[in-house]
Amino acid sequence: MLTITPKMTINFSATDFAAYQQAHLEQLHQVQQTQPDTDLQHNDLGWLTVDKWADATQLTHLKNLATQVQATADVLVIVGVGGSNQAARAVIEAFAQQHGQVKIIYAGTNLSAAYYQRLLNDLAEQEVYVDVIAKNFATLEPGIGFRIFKPFLQQKYGANYAQHLFVTGTRGSHLEQLAQAEGYPFLTFPTDIGGRFSVFSDVGLFPIAVAGIDITALVQGAQTMRAQLQANNGGNNPAFQYASLRNYLHQQGKSVEVLGHFEPQLDFFGRWWTQLFAESEGKRNKGLLPLALTYSEDLHSMGQYIQQGQRQLLETMLVIDQPRHDLSIQASDVTDDFDYLTGQTLTQINQVAEKATITAHQASGVPVIELHLPKLDLTTFGELFYFFEYAVFISGLILEVDPFNQPGVEAYKQLMFTGLGKK
Ligand code: PA5
Repeated sequence: MLTITPKMTINFSATDFAAYQQAHLEQLHQVQQTQPDTDLQHNDLGWLTVDKWADATQLTHLKNLATQVQATADVLVIVGVGGSNQAARAVIEAFAQQHGQVKIIYAGTNLSAAYYQRLLNDLAEQEVYVDVIAKNFATLEPGIGFRIFKPFLQQKYGANYAQHLFVTGTRGSHLEQLAQAEGYPFLTFPTDIGGRFSVFSDVGLFPIAVAGIDITALVQGAQTMRAQLQANNGGNNPAFQYASLRNYLHQQGKSVEVLGHFEPQLDFFGRWWTQLFAESEGKRNKGLLPLALTYSEDLHSMGQYIQQGQRQLLETMLVIDQPRHDLSIQASDVTDDFDYLTGQTLTQINQVAEKATITAHQASGVPVIELHLPKLDLTTFGELFYFFEYAVFISGLILEVDPFNQPGVEAYKQLMFTGLGKK
């Protein structure tokens, strides 16, 4: 179970914050009372119950499909951008085994010829499957990925190429029509889920299953978190605590939220979190700027700014209470001035660094919200995804923005399409 421990600066008034929470409890209750299937105001809430697109039958179906791919594949290329790949990537980069499993590679994320050239060269001798994922198949990046990988697969597999080309799109979409016409295996991108909320659907779960990762454990985590968040309608509901704290601090003049952690396994989770909050809240000239950092590495770059730069930061620290692995520092047979480390474990050292960082940041005027994970496993990861999705829903309501649209990303697209001669 996740827990929140606020470590506030001396200027923080608990009484003020309690009043702020009281004034915004209705936003928590609104989220708790939302009925995704009957609430006609929203067509974006298919993720809210978890089960709708990730029930036991669907998980079995996805696992069976994944087993078929695993029987022959060396590589699965996910072609998708933004919400169409970030969550799967976060899980796969954190949990995939290096050996003996299908390697997952990412395309449709950029427009670089150098990237594609290198990728196609690397894949020449491999057994390749591709999953083109696009809710709106007009998006340029996955479109380019499709245009590059379809001929690649045709050349490699001749008439059988279609069996290597999965597509994940909405029912009734152009992508589904293409799948029917060409014989591509089709997976569902739910019409009532936006990309950044799509981890517990075919979008995220199929690639994760192909990577040999237990999707049931992941989904169970989300279900557990949903039950926990639905059951508590008070100020200490953890998603509400987080959403209200960050908005309270935003109101006090904080404009940047750093998501910090001391575990590189969380790197791509940080990217997913950045997208979730940036696209959900950054509109109508509002929203905290999200910035995910990996410590201790980023302490040697951004650490300076956090300690002594402008005081507009708040920090949310993901703390893993019991890491999965450990290593001891052995005694050294040369004089290297690191004898003080002998016998200590990396986990102990990492935890000392973490505590020191939190104390130093807090003392410099950066309020820190500690978000504790008992351990880093698939179930906790599932909890964490759902926690932030639920929190951004509450947070968007507090901020009075629609967390489910992203109208701002259209501006450059129109100019780009004009530049490219799109009719
Ligand atoms: O979260 C979102 O909705 C976006 O980030 C989309 O996932 C992203 O723009 C890709 O969209 P599409 O799947 O339509 O290509």
